[in-house]
Amino acid sequence: MADVCDQIENSLKVESSSDISSNSSEVNTQNDNKNNDQRQELEEDKASSNGSFNSKSDCSHDEPSLNPAPGQEKILNETIGAKKEDNDILPQNGNSNNPLYEDAKSYWQTVPPTVDGMLGGFARISTTDIAGSNKFLRSFIKGPKAKTKTRCVVDCGCGIGRITKRLLLQYFDKVDMVEQDTKFITEARTFLGDGAKKVDNFFNCGLQDFEPVAERYDVIWCQWVLGHLSDDDFVQFFRRCREGLAEDGVIIIKENVTGCHSPEFDKQDSSFTRPKSALVELINKSGCTIIKQEKQKNFPKSIFDVWMFALM
Ligand SMILES: C[S@@+](CC[C@H](N)C(=O)[O-])C[C@H]1O[C@@H](n2cnc3c(N)ncnc32)[C@H](O)[C@@H]1O
Repeated sequence: MADVCDQIENSLKVESSSDISSNSSEVNTQNDNKNNDQRQELEEDKASSNGSFNSKSDCSHDEPSLNPAPGQEKILNETIGAKKEDNDILPQNGNSNNPLYEDAKSYWQTVPPTVDGMLGGFARISTTDIAGSNKFLRSFIKGPKAKTKTRCVVDCGCGIGRITKRLLLQYFDKVDMVEQDTKFITEARTFLGDGAKKVDNFFNCGLQDFEPVAERYDVIWCQWVLGHLSDDDFVQFFRRCREGLAEDGVIIIKENVTGCHSPEFDKQDSSFTRPKSALVELINKSGCTIIKQEKQKNFPKSIFDVWMFALM
């Protein structure tokens, strides 16, 4: 990992955070009226937003694919032009040299290091998102049947640390963070405020290159990042994650899913939104077992459905 993944020493300068919401307020359940108001606001916002939370597609890319060979996707896409669309790029070939990773990197370099930037202009869904995640996570770490310990968690594709700050820090003794964009990691140090003291490691690399230390993590959290991995790298990544799990540890995935039959490619941020069946197939291929799955509630209807999976 040392070759490709820079481990940044955690000599953190703790500064006051620009984020004013506390963890406890984040996890409060929203009442119905508030959700309705929020939903309406989000519908209005959608028109001006961009990035990973675009509206559901009409699935026109679900036409029969030409099945380009690995590495040929972009060339085919350009040369066949008239008929083929960006959605025909398939997340097949896996390796760090995949141009998808360079394209995504370039995109994220243009995104401001804010919650709104992390959520493609949908900062307002953060509270609902964290509340749903909190409920899902607690079923593993709290209560009489809970087996998963809370010593160490890793936030994969953490961005500026929205999930670490608003969810993970309140439960875990130690947090590691993995992020490919250096500027987001730099911002995380400020954004996390005092909570940054609990961060053990910042890994500055893509998940395709991240190798978790064996049996280190009670929870491996992967949210709104897996669309950036090719199918092969997705499978390999979760094989490594299994090795990185401590006893009774769980991997938690939270991702957009498309209602279309094939992955949708977002040419703006170079990510794929996969159908749920494709996600499940890749998870199975990695050797992980799905032990719980749930759809996020109370998100605006105009955006992709979001599903949570717990794996062992
Ligand atoms: C939609 S944001 C989500 C951030 C965070 N998970 C959250 O929910 O607030 C996607 C994040 O994934 C990061 N990312 C993109 N490609 C990645 C890759 N191959 N490996 C690791 N992180 C990646 C981006 O830099 C960005 O910070």
